Amino acid sequence: MVEPEQLELFVAWAKRRGVIFPSSEIYGGLGSSYDYGPIGVEMKNRLKTAWWNSMVRERDDVVGLDSAIILNPQVWQASGHLDNFADPLVECLSCHRRYRKDDLLDLWKERNTAYVSEHHEIRKCPNCDGDLSEVKQFNTMFKTLVGPVEEDAATAYLRPETAQGTFVNFKQVMEVSRLSPPFGIAQIGKAFRNEITPGNFTFRTREFEQMELEFFVDPKEADEWFDYWVKARLSWYVELGLSVKDLRLKKHPKSQLAHYSKATTDIEYHFPWGWGELEGIANRGDYDLITHQKHSGKDLSVFDEKSGKKYHPWVIEPAGGVDRALLALMLDAWQHHETGRKGEGEPETVLGIDTRLSAYDAAVLPLVKKAPLVKLAEKLVAKLKNGGKSVFYDESGSIGRRYRRMDEIGTPVCYTIDFQSLEDNSVTERDRNSMEQKRIKIKEGE
Ligand code: GAP
Repeated sequence: MVEPEQLELFVAWAKRRGVIFPSSEIYGGLGSSYDYGPIGVEMKNRLKTAWWNSMVRERDDVVGLDSAIILNPQVWQASGHLDNFADPLVECLSCHRRYRKDDLLDLWKERNTAYVSEHHEIRKCPNCDGDLSEVKQFNTMFKTLVGPVEEDAATAYLRPETAQGTFVNFKQVMEVSRLSPPFGIAQIGKAFRNEITPGNFTFRTREFEQMELEFFVDPKEADEWFDYWVKARLSWYVELGLSVKDLRLKKHPKSQLAHYSKATTDIEYHFPWGWGELEGIANRGDYDLITHQKHSGKDLSVFDEKSGKKYHPWVIEPAGGVDRALLALMLDAWQHHETGRKGEGEPETVLGIDTRLSAYDAAVLPLVKKAPLVKLAEKLVAKLKNGGKSVFYDESGSIGRRYRRMDEIGTPVCYTIDFQSLEDNSVTERDRNSMEQKRIKIKEGE
């Protein structure tokens, strides 16, 4: 677990080990924009696979979709995003810093708890004490132009959520999949929001990935399905390794619900900087299907065999962030030991992440770089790869250092080939968490 004072060390580790680093850094980077390196992209892909397996492949009532990022702009008019997807923004008239109005109380609390109370309108800048402007509504959708000639081009938007691509395809997907409620459509993909205050590493960025399920149900069963998905999603995070004590559910009060929501419960994680949302589960009612039916003129109702009537299903939506989930899982699994794990050596870092999420399943390490050992190691790599494992091969440096490098990126097991291996086809299997080593046989022909 990363303690607040270890955050800098964690961010430096992520960069040094090729997990996550600032984007376009040779040009000075771009504020709160990050790239996933060779290790990070493997972990991120595995996290997405874990989500997809649990939400789509292991179920009979959910199918997948990959819709476009740039949709017909009418979608955003109909969904209410053009009118409502805005954050209240204030600007300091002296230092010109911009804040989300909702963040001001916390910022002031961090600085001086005596200054503010929950009921007090905050009119001073937490940075320089300057006066703050009136509140403006700032729409956080990214605009772009579609078409080669700027003057004739149409304004379009980068999607701020994957969900709308799902709603506009609802009827089509339902028909081709021959499904009827209750059923879901799952989607993983990039979303973009021009956040006023991005920050806390990859927690809040302007470009991020979402994993969202839109689950269509009979309105009479909506509450039941809502409870089901809250429980199922919370269990998923626990099963992947997040500590139960660092997770909690937070129900949104009616006054803070998004424009489309009848009820929302967030799954929150205790990040080193405080509690933050990992995923929101919303009961969107029939808001989206009704509004798209009205704006498109297409019938988006379904026929209920039992009653012989048409109705609009309600939507239960578990909506999570890939980057946020991976960040939480890494923060939870990361351990730094200043004097080594045995307390008497050099600093050691271990990423004790769930084996389903580690970049590599195993590492193969010939004890020394000598032809017969290397040859046997290569044979083992090929064998493991044939068995569908992702394997890291490393033949340089002391064996202790090579183990530590693997611990740092979370490789659960290392196989070391030595001279005895040449005689009896056995290797040393070394466990990341316990550091225990045991001799095992590589079976012929496997
Ligand atoms: N379709 C509903 C929806 O988009 P949301 O709560 O706004 O709901 C869902 O977003 C999830 O997307 C959040 O729980 C969070 O994990 C992730 N997310 C939202 N904004 C983000 C940002 N700026 N940076 C990183 N992740 C973000």
